[in-house]
Amino acid sequence: MKSVKILVIDDERSICDGCRLVLLDQGYQVDTCQTGRKGLDLLLGGDYDVALIDMKLPDIHGMEILQALKRDRPAVYVIVLTGFSSVENAVEAMKSGAFDYLSKPFGEEELILAVEKAIENKRLKDENRCLRQQLVDRFDFGNIIGENPQILKLFEEIKKVAPTDSTVLLCGETGTGKELFAKAIHAQSKRAERQFIPVDCSTFAASLLESELFGHVKGAFTGAVKDKAGVFEAADGGTFFLDEVANLDLSIQGKLLRAMETQEFKPVGSSHVKKSDVRIIAATNRDLKTMVDEGSFREDLFYRLNVFPIFIPPLRERRDDIPRLLYHFLRIYSRQTGKRIEGFSDDALEILTAYDWPGNVRQLRNTVERLVILADDQILDNRSLTDNWETKGPAFRDRIPETLEELRSIKKDLLENEFGQIERSFLQQALLAEKGNITQAARRVGMQRSNFSALMKKHHLSADPVKSAEKDGPFKE
Ligand SMILES: Nc1ncnc2c1ncn2[C@@H]1O[C@H](COP(=O)(O)OP(=O)(O)OP(=O)(O)O)[C@@H](O)[C@H]1O
Ligand SMILES: [Mg+2]
Repeated sequence: MKSVKILVIDDERSICDGCRLVLLDQGYQVDTCQTGRKGLDLLLGGDYDVALIDMKLPDIHGMEILQALKRDRPAVYVIVLTGFSSVENAVEAMKSGAFDYLSKPFGEEELILAVEKAIENKRLKDENRCLRQQLVDRFDFGNIIGENPQILKLFEEIKKVAPTDSTVLLCGETGTGKELFAKAIHAQSKRAERQFIPVDCSTFAASLLESELFGHVKGAFTGAVKDKAGVFEAADGGTFFLDEVANLDLSIQGKLLRAMETQEFKPVGSSHVKKSDVRIIAATNRDLKTMVDEGSFREDLFYRLNVFPIFIPPLRERRDDIPRLLYHFLRIYSRQTGKRIEGFSDDALEILTAYDWPGNVRQLRNTVERLVILADDQILDNRSLTDNWETKGPAFRDRIPETLEELRSIKKDLLENEFGQIERSFLQQALLAEKGNITQAARRVGMQRSNFSALMKKHHLSADPVKSAEKDGPFKE
């Protein structure tokens, strides 16, 4: 522990010397000074924990020092020294924030006690502050599990960007937690008390999306029976989460860009401009830059969104977090189902950790849910995996979704897992047939080379077909 630093300010040399001797003997670091101005300079420039200040000094009044400290160095604990037992002086000083007072003459014991009390109090306060900060940190990322260095770095980045109004672009494969991170950014921003409104750009037709974003006026189109506010208006003062931004129609992209740049927009069918103050967080699982190169995403909008890009790595690139996530969801689903499942056997944990999780955390969550529902024993072991975990397909085909969100999530998983596997094999087969020559493989299947290599990138395939095939690990047929 850092040693405690004390400054004694008193114009009487004997008091300074006396305090110094007693306090040095207690193991404190002690400086003394006989004028107010010098003392104040020392306090403002140094890192003192406690100051003993005489109220009656030749140059400035002790109260002045006290007030300056409260303003600029509130962490210094002040014990005032009052002459001729002037109680009023002491009361006044305590009201101004002094921690305690000693009236002269005071004894050794009194001095030691007052200083110890101040130090103990300061220590408790510091400890409290530290605990409170830890609590804030925990709650802000409370529901995001991750201790992998890449994820910890993301937490740091998010802490920095959250309080600003900057646009954030979250990139990452499906199920990596983009929406979760978007919510954490909102929760840690000054907009936290206001709305967080997500809009999934892939679920709306272009014409509907425009009205969803900007609203419409009565009569704007068939079915527009009354004025309706859009997300830009509803999220005023809050955060607007633009999910799957790669699916935005080109015609809307221009309007969105304008709204982002001017904070102004026009509802469909209206000639009046409205204003709105929204912070935009966008998410995508596609490579927007490639889309810009291909002409399917506006370059200006890309740069407007790409102010602060955050890349969430896929789960297979942070395997050390897999056991943590498995246990996190195990606890959740055990509680939900009322089952007392203690954990995973070592070999089950090994298999689950080695698996590639193409649907990332969402797939892992659904898998654990299924394993828990079907579990008969207290330990999820290798046998329960072989019986209940179908790695080649999504593990929840027999589950009927109960909400639209669940339905969408299953659709996404099906696409990613089933179709994703087929797409990957399709590329590998072509590459294998053409001995890794991308141009010829693309021609063979009737694709543009650029599209073919973009797909390869999506599946993390290299041109060497043998290497690519090996990457599949033990779960591929
Ligand atoms: N690090 C994590 N800790 C705990 N839960 C997580 C984590 N990452 C993701 N999840 C959970 O996984 C599920 C999928 O996350 P989320 O919806 O945020 O992913 P996404 O990247 O938006 O996916 P998509 O691209 O498919 O929309 C959610 O239930 C989320 O709570
Ligand atoms: Mg999402």
